[in-house]
Amino acid sequence: MTNPIEPMSDFFAARLSVYDEHMLTDIEELPEAYALVARLVPPDAQTLLDLGCGTGLELESIFALRPDIRVTGIDLTLAMLDRLRAKFPGKDVTLICGSYLDRDFGEGLYDAAVSVETMHHWTYARKSALYAAVYQSLKPGGRYIECDYMVNTQAEQDRMAEEARRLRASQGVPEEAFYHCDTPLTIDNQAKLFREAGFVSVETVFRRNGTAVIVCGKR
Ligand SMILES: C[S@@+](CC[C@H](N)C(=O)[O-])C[C@H]1O[C@@H](n2cnc3c(N)ncnc32)[C@H](O)[C@@H]1O
Repeated sequence: MTNPIEPMSDFFAARLSVYDEHMLTDIEELPEAYALVARLVPPDAQTLLDLGCGTGLELESIFALRPDIRVTGIDLTLAMLDRLRAKFPGKDVTLICGSYLDRDFGEGLYDAAVSVETMHHWTYARKSALYAAVYQSLKPGGRYIECDYMVNTQAEQDRMAEEARRLRASQGVPEEAFYHCDTPLTIDNQAKLFREAGFVSVETVFRRNGTAVIVCGKR
């Protein structure tokens, strides 16, 4: 029997006490991926948007290299944000508790944007509008770095999407409700989404186990 799916915020709040350790030890490639994401933030970046910032694991690596960067972080789960806030006293961090989907991030505000291990919960259609907003929020020459769980084949993507639909239907959870349920896309489909959003360069710079890092550049 499969476990029931949980509302997104409840899922992460319930696992807060073990969250950081789980990410850093159970997902073998993640420490290296966090370090890489930090190195990919341009050295002269002053403003950063972090989508699904959680407890701030990627920010630990980013602040180590860019201690003065100004960060706007968005996350659905208040308990994760409280943990993040406690980790970085004295840092210039603005936190927004809410969804990054269907949100206007403003225009030309950020030198860089990142997201780590959060986008694999959403469909192609939902991400399409999101990436357009991320693109718009970046300054000319800005960079979006996504590190996430991605799959290799369309068949795998379709199988997981079908399983998610089945789980939602079995619990009466509507498609649009924020529930924790993995629906990763292929790297190729992610790249297509980034190009459709307007990014002129889209490069996969890391791939190990289920994790990929893609760097997208704005003209
Ligand atoms: C696996 S955690 C990743 C957190 C952090 N980036 C890291 O690597 O540790 C996923 C995070 O995405 C957040 N999240 C999921 N869907 C979201 C949404 N629609 N808007 C904002 N945050 C979301 C969750 O609350 C959770 O904190």
